[in-house]
Amino acid sequence: MANMTIDQARELMREWTASPALRVHMECVSACVRAYGKMLDPANEERWAIAGLLHDFDYEKHPTLDEHPMVGVAHLRTLGVDDEILTAILAHAPRTGTPRDRPMSIALFACDELAGFIVACAKVRPEGTSTLGASSVKKKLKDKAFAAAVSREDIATGASELAALLGKPLTPEFETEHIQRCIDAIKGSGAAG
Ligand SMILES: [Fe+2]
Repeated sequence: MANMTIDQARELMREWTASPALRVHMECVSACVRAYGKMLDPANEERWAIAGLLHDFDYEKHPTLDEHPMVGVAHLRTLGVDDEILTAILAHAPRTGTPRDRPMSIALFACDELAGFIVACAKVRPEGTSTLGASSVKKKLKDKAFAAAVSREDIATGASELAALLGKPLTPEFETEHIQRCIDAIKGSGAAG
């Protein structure tokens, strides 16, 4: 399966993951990473989407620090999934020691926690994502009690690495742009309702 399609990736993700929330999380991260793929590697945006869709696919079965995401990556390797995707999935978990030195790896890390946070923001709004904007997400990020499990540090690190990748200064405007791009991607995917 050297060229896994997005449909095959989704099938595999659903096979390994029963939790609706975790499925939604992977769909949302996939949509965000695809948006960066569209921007940075347009001929291969589907591959970027696949990395997002599979980054936590082993988490439900193998949630421990010893297993996630290594077990999933080992399985993907047996299916012939290529190194760029495998590296991005390993690199989203800093404990693997895999450096985030490729664009896909940087985008996946920058979107993972942020997508989770955007979904949490949408959940407390009656209209979900439809009226959600970057400014309200930024406000919620400062509220440490809201979605406390989401690492603000990882979100900040991700934005900073992304800015460096894109050759842009890390400004509040850049952060807004990144957050809005992810909101739009999630909205467009319809995954978060
Ligand atoms: Fe994740």
